[in-house]
Amino acid sequence: MKKATITALAALAITGFAASASAKPFCATCHAGHKDKVGPAFEKVVAAYGSVDAVFEFLNSDKPLEPKVAAFAKKKGTMKPQLKKYRKLSDEKKAEVRAWFEEQVK
Ligand code: HEC
Repeated sequence: MKKATITALAALAITGFAASASAKPFCATCHAGHKDKVGPAFEKVVAAYGSVDAVFEFLNSDKPLEPKVAAFAKKKGTMKPQLKKYRKLSDEKKAEVRAWFEEQVK
């Protein structure tokens, strides 16, 4: 009984964590779709790149960060380690980031 309860709780914790991780990647700390936070609103980033595809082509490449949203260019040092972190994610996690990103810019 006790063991079963612990197992159930552990399962809950794991699914709860997975659900929140897929709903909101760490990017959410600094970015939103239509509002500037620590980083530029994703709509501005998409406008600067031309399309969501172009943004992810850059993110998924090994090109260095050359900020395209002029007003935020000075904050490059904040995004640089995030880019490194993103590039280390599994393909599955990257797909989750993209799904979330697209949801934000709707
Ligand atoms: C700690 C805060 C922070 C986090 C976390 C963060 N960013 Fe950023 N991001 C910034 C800042 C500040 C800028 C503006 C400076 C720049 O463009 O390099 C930026 C810029 C960007 C740009 C525009 C880069 C360019 O070429 O103009 C993209 C795209 C981006 N972030 C995507 C993401 C994604 C996707 C994630 C999550 C995987 C993420 N960011 C996580 C702070 C953050």
